[in-house]
Amino acid sequence: MAKTIIVYYSSTGNTYMIAKYIHDQLDWEMVAVSLKKPLRLKGFFKYLYGGFMAISGCRPKLDNIEVDWDEFDRIIIASPIWAGRMAPAIRSLIESKVFANKDIYFLYTNEGGAKNIPRSARKIISANNQLKGTFSCRDVAKNYEQVKKEALDWVKSL
Ligand SMILES: Cc1cc2nc3c(=O)[nH]c(=O)nc-3n(C[C@H](O)[C@H](O)[C@H](O)COP(=O)(O)O)c2cc1C
Repeated sequence: MAKTIIVYYSSTGNTYMIAKYIHDQLDWEMVAVSLKKPLRLKGFFKYLYGGFMAISGCRPKLDNIEVDWDEFDRIIIASPIWAGRMAPAIRSLIESKVFANKDIYFLYTNEGGAKNIPRSARKIISANNQLKGTFSCRDVAKNYEQVKKEALDWVKSL
């Protein structure tokens, strides 16, 4: 059976909650991506600055991740959407090329403004890996019980 790891970034907890639920249900390994310099902004300024980071395609420095990627056949990457794009921390991870030639499944939490994600994620992920599927988790905070079950059904179907 393919060995799977969930790697996620979460700024306000939504993506973490989904990743943790999958981890708890399926006992798949899970690892967090964290920024060397975490964003300390809140509210409007966080949206503004975070949105700018995402749009400008910046790749912030990450804390070291202690994972032997060779152990895993499949990687579920879970990211919030910022300004219609994957979170900069996740982009940094993917473009750092710490793993390559993996089957990637991209799960993204959002609030309804993520329509171009399957296409834009494919462009970024396919440079070094194979994107095998995408899944939108919309309105996690408002609808956690339903969304977490849908996300679990999706990963079980992979
Ligand atoms: C800087 C910033 C930009 C965002 N831009 C979008 C967006 O373009 N579309 C959208 O649907 N949600 C957007 N959101 C909402 C988040 O994607 C959503 O709340 C997500 O679930 C947050 O995940 P987290 O709690 O794991 O950080 C944005 C949030 C932030 C902080």
